[in-house]
Amino acid sequence: MSGADLSSTVKLAYRALRLVAKGASERSAIQQLATSDPNLANVKHESLDLVLTTLRNQDVLDRIVQDALPNEILAAKTLPLFRLATQLLMKAHGKDDVRRKERGLRNVTPVEYLPRLEILLGSVLGHDPYRIPSTATDAERVALETHHPALWVEYCFRLLGRSEAIKLLSTDSRPRYIRVNPLMNRGRTTLPAQAKRLAGKLTRVPSDPGVYLLNGSPSEFSAFFSQGLFQMQDFASYLAVKAGGPEPGETVLDLCAAPGAKTATLAQFMKNRGKIVSVDYSQSRMEAWKRETSRLGVKIAEPVIGDAARLAVHGTFDLIIIDPPCTGTGVFDMNPRMKWHLSPKSLERYASLQQQFMDAATPLVAEEGRILYCTCSIAVEENEQVVSTFLKSHADFEICPILGEYGSPGLKGLTDCRRLFPHRDRTAGYFISLMQRTN
Ligand SMILES: C[S@@+](CC[C@H](N)C(=O)[O-])C[C@H]1O[C@@H](n2cnc3c(N)ncnc32)[C@H](O)[C@@H]1O
Repeated sequence: MSGADLSSTVKLAYRALRLVAKGASERSAIQQLATSDPNLANVKHESLDLVLTTLRNQDVLDRIVQDALPNEILAAKTLPLFRLATQLLMKAHGKDDVRRKERGLRNVTPVEYLPRLEILLGSVLGHDPYRIPSTATDAERVALETHHPALWVEYCFRLLGRSEAIKLLSTDSRPRYIRVNPLMNRGRTTLPAQAKRLAGKLTRVPSDPGVYLLNGSPSEFSAFFSQGLFQMQDFASYLAVKAGGPEPGETVLDLCAAPGAKTATLAQFMKNRGKIVSVDYSQSRMEAWKRETSRLGVKIAEPVIGDAARLAVHGTFDLIIIDPPCTGTGVFDMNPRMKWHLSPKSLERYASLQQQFMDAATPLVAEEGRILYCTCSIAVEENEQVVSTFLKSHADFEICPILGEYGSPGLKGLTDCRRLFPHRDRTAGYFISLMQRTN
């Protein structure tokens, strides 16, 4: 990478980290900044990588920054820059690379922060980032080694046992999945003729026609993405829709629908016949839903901007999909910022919201209709506990067995629900449950 490109990469990553600190997601921050400054667009992949690595390693980076600048109260403006500087230097190879990275950092640092940056640059290389304090507990040590909050490590130890928990916490990337979109491929799941030359970049998932593991970069498929021929979606998210058993001609309510991955998958299973009402409260994410559903040729979905806890939707539905916001403990690898927000309070807050969505949806389920509830969280409070509480107060619903050949049974006795784990299944960490209204 040239010196100019390095400066642009650092500049974009620094700005993106500041947006993430204000609540944006990693990808939307990069996308928004690259769109508003076209000079930065050609380094957006490198910048996203740098942002993700910096957020993944945030705990260790913060220790180094604190040691170098002990008397600083690190403000929201400076901390992202200092974390970024530390990450870059920690991964520098040789003196020339160190100098190049230092120059790149100086180029983007506001002049008032330069003296502190110099102190930091002077101390990073002498630091052992993996020094474990002698007083650390076992969970604290694993937390430092795997870059997770200690409370999450303790939680995983309790849930899975120490050795399996370490496997889960040490899995820092999973494969990416890509699927042929039959709605734009004359109803077929076979590889479109135009894309056959890229067959070597794909490995079939034998259980599901049209689903592939992607070996390499999605950018090689960009022309086909713009024609709507492919959809990128984690396999677990696809399996959640499959578990709901959507059929052509059915009416489906898709709650918490943006940015539309599940809406599009629903329309594919339904062969664009029937009706989908997709609800999400975020105007901007519903703009992304509109782009995605239009790209993928979805003809049967209607967008509704509204609160899933107070639904202003009429009629009844054969299937209601609830894909609520959650702590994201199953997708920390792709959204590392989320792991540093995890707390008992946040777990409680999400679980209560999820319960409200389930209760609000119930009156809209048709006779013998289904609720498909799923999250990309591993925490029992957001999964089995939500389902158990729901079943206690809705005796007319029962759990249906699903996806027997995938993943593992649900926990806490809910063995007909399914769980998928990154270290066992090479997917996002996911929970999937199907409940049917009975007589
Ligand atoms: C896990 S994401 C949904 C992903 C989507 N189903 C898909 O497959 O692309 C959760 C969504 O819930 C939405 N959300 C959060 N609180 C909500 C609420 N009270 N009412 C409706 N939507 C909400 C967020 O805007 C976000 O888009």
